[in-house]
Amino acid sequence: MTKTVVGFSKLTKEEKINWLAEAFLSDNASAKTILTNYWNNNKQLQQLHDEFIENTISNFYLPYAVAPNFIINNRPYVIPMAVEESSVVAAAALVAKFWQKRGGFTATVIATTKTGHVHFMYDGRVEELQDYFKAIHPKLLEATESITKNMRARGGGILGIALKDKTDKLPNYYQLQVTFETKDSMGANFINSCLEAIATAFQKDGIEIVMSILSNYVPECLVRAEVSCKIEEFSDKNPYQMAEKFYRAVQIATVEPYRAVTHNKGIMNGIDAVVIATGNDFRAVEAGAHAYASRNGHYQSLTDCSIDNGIFKFWIEIPLALGTVGGLTALHPLAKLSLELLQKPSAKELMQIVAVAGLAQNFAALKALTTTGIQHGHMKMHLQNMLNQLGASPQEKEKLTRHFKDKKISYNAATEALEKLRVK
Ligand code: MEV
Repeated sequence: MTKTVVGFSKLTKEEKINWLAEAFLSDNASAKTILTNYWNNNKQLQQLHDEFIENTISNFYLPYAVAPNFIINNRPYVIPMAVEESSVVAAAALVAKFWQKRGGFTATVIATTKTGHVHFMYDGRVEELQDYFKAIHPKLLEATESITKNMRARGGGILGIALKDKTDKLPNYYQLQVTFETKDSMGANFINSCLEAIATAFQKDGIEIVMSILSNYVPECLVRAEVSCKIEEFSDKNPYQMAEKFYRAVQIATVEPYRAVTHNKGIMNGIDAVVIATGNDFRAVEAGAHAYASRNGHYQSLTDCSIDNGIFKFWIEIPLALGTVGGLTALHPLAKLSLELLQKPSAKELMQIVAVAGLAQNFAALKALTTTGIQHGHMKMHLQNMLNQLGASPQEKEKLTRHFKDKKISYNAATEALEKLRVK
């Protein structure tokens, strides 16, 4: 069987699977069973998922969970999360409860501007380009009028178009930098359509348009979330010492990129889970967040911490381009349900909720790291996965969960304990 194919996308789902099984999978029958086991019996729902992308052969599930008891700006929330890592939701729920008793989270949206560019080359006199830009500026806006009509009616649209000289970075390189307000939509399609219309209207001899595309770097679409408490409320035991150690951990992630990347990865555990559950684009959010973490010339923590006048304060500032209308948010039934669970938030409210999920996750990680260590809670949550992998029965799982309550958990320890139990 040849390992390349012509016209794959035209094959039916069954034909695609048959070809894959023959060409690449040794155990055909079990491969086919695995793939078809994940098909949804509801044909309409399956077709919806099939049509999200090309060449769909099955579905790839992520657990969908909720973390209750979040108080954000004095309002209670249950936060939906789609994530595979065992301790993420448990940590979120624990932290929500912790801060519920200490006034909850506060969050504010600092700005909501998004940016896109027409990247082009021009090797003439810059003054001539500036004159041309000035003269054509009204036509550039005119060219987008039909695209921006609905957005303008909702209070959004194009905020400005500026000519940027980038020739110090790359010979002959210029940009039209366009700023947007996209209200409750993430706005990627809207922005890209506007940019392409602007590029067409801007085009003339001597100008070589290279590309027109939004930027996923959105430092002007920024949200801040925060928690604070009296230091004596920080912990039941040694609160001053604990708060100080927590503060040190944030300082380390501010100055040491090796630590900052892991620190921010933990933040993204919470952020991505909510971004995915609400049908938003987690790759865009990831790319933008990490770029923002490097804004001062070196990669650093997205969260910060202070201890002043007996008050512990912990906050995050993060760029988040999110939508609560359009795209997958309207199409994916679970994304829709997530937004309903969140009481139909505006994009600004969703930015606040997502930032809180990130801050909560980082709080949980730093608290664990600076006290018991991360493996204690992590392995406790991971025990069920290991026992499943080892083929433990429900009764064996129950017994071994009890057995490991006060013991160190590892894969070897779980294997040995299961063997011993079976010998008994
Ligand atoms: C694991 O997914 C995330 C952590 O490594 C984050 C951190 O170290 O802060 C626990």
